[in-house]
Amino acid sequence: MEDILRGINIAPSILSADFSRLGDDVEAVLNAGARVIHIDVMDGHFVPNITIGPLVVKALQPLVHGAGALLDVHLMIEHPELYVAQFAAVGADMIVVHQEACVHLHRVLSQIREAGPLAGVALNPATPIETLAEARYSCDMVLIMSVNPGFGGQGFIPTSTDKIARARAYVPDNVTIEVDGGVTEFNAGALVAAGANWLVAGSSVFGGPDIEERFTAVAKAAAGGV
Ligand code: DX5
Ligand code: ZN
Repeated sequence: MEDILRGINIAPSILSADFSRLGDDVEAVLNAGARVIHIDVMDGHFVPNITIGPLVVKALQPLVHGAGALLDVHLMIEHPELYVAQFAAVGADMIVVHQEACVHLHRVLSQIREAGPLAGVALNPATPIETLAEARYSCDMVLIMSVNPGFGGQGFIPTSTDKIARARAYVPDNVTIEVDGGVTEFNAGALVAAGANWLVAGSSVFGGPDIEERFTAVAKAAAGGV
């Protein structure tokens, strides 16, 4: 767990997988070396889209944990505190809530940790990192959104790279920095150089045939530095 948290990891987002053969697609990235599987939960309120819930996490849990990988659950929902227990119960290892969705952020982060998983905070592109002046000491990960949340396949917002560097300097060293949205083999190296160590990749991994090759291309670029 500790080495995955500290290491450079590509986290394939199943949002772009083929849902008619989800297990096969996830198995392909696990075989290619993925140790973090990213699950995008959307409610049609916090973001315009509706996606998946605890049932899908439950179904994937044996496969993902069997490979020694972690389930990274990104809640793009209002009132995430109402669903923390459910996602913890089906095997989430990391639960990420949006700063913008939590009036009582400290309470929700504590609730996640008490339920068992690690606790992450996500920031939308327009939300400054300084909003984490207090919460940076109560979380295990900060997720920098590099697109506006809601859909896969959007273009990377270029100012996000500098935001990652500022976030890396702002939060304690033991807090993981994750970047989410528009990550490809062409920007992964620069994102790691800026300070991100978990890189979510949806369409760049699942958006075509040869999933293992596509994963490996992004992972190699991330390992290469720039
Ligand atoms: C966007 C989601 C992302 C998305 C990334 O709201 O949080 O995790 O799946 O997809 P790509 O990599 O295609 O931008
Ligand atoms: Zn996500």
